[in-house]
Amino acid sequence: MTKKRLADSPTFRQLQTHFDAVGDAAMRTQFASEPDRYSRYSLHAAGLMLDYSKNRLNQTTLDLLMALAREQQVEARRDAMFAGEKINLTEQRAVLHTALRAPRSTALCVDGQDITADVHAVLDQMHGFSEQIRSGNWVGRDGQAITDIVNIGIGGSYLGPKMVCQALRAQAHARLSCHFVSNVDGHDLAAVLAKVNPATTLFIIASKTFTTTETMMNAHSARSWFLQSGTEADLARHFVAVSTNLPAVTGFGIDAANMFPFWDWVGGRYSIWSAIGLSVAVLVGFAAFREFLDGAHRMDQHFRTAPLEQNMPVLLAMIGIWYRNFHGASSVSVAPYHQDLALFAGYLQQLDMESNGKRVTASGQPLSAASGPVIWGDTGTNGQHAYFQLLHQGSDLIPMDFIAVLNASHTLPGHHAVLLANCFAQSEAFMRGKTAVEVRADLQAQGLDAAATEALVPHKTFPGNRPSNTLLMDALTPANLGALIALYEHKVFVQGVIWGVNSFDQWGVELGKVLAQAIARELSGKSAPQQHDSSTTALIALARAAQMA
Ligand code: F6P
Repeated sequence: MTKKRLADSPTFRQLQTHFDAVGDAAMRTQFASEPDRYSRYSLHAAGLMLDYSKNRLNQTTLDLLMALAREQQVEARRDAMFAGEKINLTEQRAVLHTALRAPRSTALCVDGQDITADVHAVLDQMHGFSEQIRSGNWVGRDGQAITDIVNIGIGGSYLGPKMVCQALRAQAHARLSCHFVSNVDGHDLAAVLAKVNPATTLFIIASKTFTTTETMMNAHSARSWFLQSGTEADLARHFVAVSTNLPAVTGFGIDAANMFPFWDWVGGRYSIWSAIGLSVAVLVGFAAFREFLDGAHRMDQHFRTAPLEQNMPVLLAMIGIWYRNFHGASSVSVAPYHQDLALFAGYLQQLDMESNGKRVTASGQPLSAASGPVIWGDTGTNGQHAYFQLLHQGSDLIPMDFIAVLNASHTLPGHHAVLLANCFAQSEAFMRGKTAVEVRADLQAQGLDAAATEALVPHKTFPGNRPSNTLLMDALTPANLGALIALYEHKVFVQGVIWGVNSFDQWGVELGKVLAQAIARELSGKSAPQQHDSSTTALIALARAAQMA
């Protein structure tokens, strides 16, 4: 059945009319006239606080956005996802990353299979394994405890574990270091192999499909490197796999007992909660990993049960729709004010852009409105000294998400207050801006003459009215991190429902993969030069010539 076009929906049209009337209304004025603006436009859920008051919206905007969410059946789609319906239509799969963090008592069957039991059996396996590594009972080939974990995987089998290991590094086991190799570029693996001792290194080959070129090439190279000093019999103590593909894992030479399974109803970019999180469980311990799952589950419960108007993922999503579809904002910048979240924006890029970077609806019709924005960002305060100039005074409207943590996990005096001051000052500056009148008064007070003042005024004026959300948590605990990631997962889900796309496939990565295989055969001389455009032909010829030289 072809769904009605989003752009033709009456509520979407009402939002357009509303935007034409108030889209540019000044937040500065709204804050001045609404003393309760923060308390009206903020909420707490699952250990997080969202302040969305510094957005270009009023109560009518929110009412219309929530009406749109209802009209597009966000609640019914959400319930279908949690119930295990096959909402990933192009792959005919359920979407059940939420089941990975549900308690043992949850009843959930997919195709007649009790998946809660399956999930908890693997969690138990991870628990036992992580304790063995951490305690030193699991020893390498010459009896020494493991010191280094090398996770080989890419995309969702890399970004999640690496980001979470970094985020929770304050709780890392003192003996253990985690390394992450993803790129088929041999510089990546070579740099890690140069640092580790094969006798005390554990490789985790993490790949849902166990066919991904980059991962398989790195895994084979790591295996060859290991066998330069070890035997085939030693492999079992140094190589484990996380995958859905048992035959490929055993074909690679990893014992089935050393494989941590997961399932096709877990999308790669939603897999950190599965055994793909094994490196996290080993590094910070299974109890912390369980807290991480529990935090995400709390956000799931909130998303399932809170009315749309007080539902954090829904609010974040619908505010994003307001900027994407009515203000025409084509990117969103994320600024975590915590160095341990340095990889968070990169993680969100895959989560959001691989999910909602689509141009047709789930039923294959061209979209009638723009879909997923570009997601990008870096930590505060670093971004302030790099690209915030454009955010403040550039020509594009780029909504921001600030993420801050009230309590630091270090004890260095003074730093944290300055960090938080910067975070709060930035959102204030984005909202307030600085008018020409204010700039002129400043310059005159500094004693500049009239000509010098007028020459500087346009440069020192900030338009302001630039929107942002602020997310706060008490501390960067595993539970709060789990809730934060789940919040963004559900935001992406809600936006996908509004746009009517399938947020759970990723056909867009296929074409390049196929062409790369053909070109790799040409570069290696295994196949004769093929028909390409003149640019690609010349690039291949240059690379061939460099190889020959
Ligand atoms: O790039 C496409 C993709 O399928 C991602 O969605 C996925 O996370 C990544 O490749 C890695 O896939 P796998 O875990 O199967 O190696």
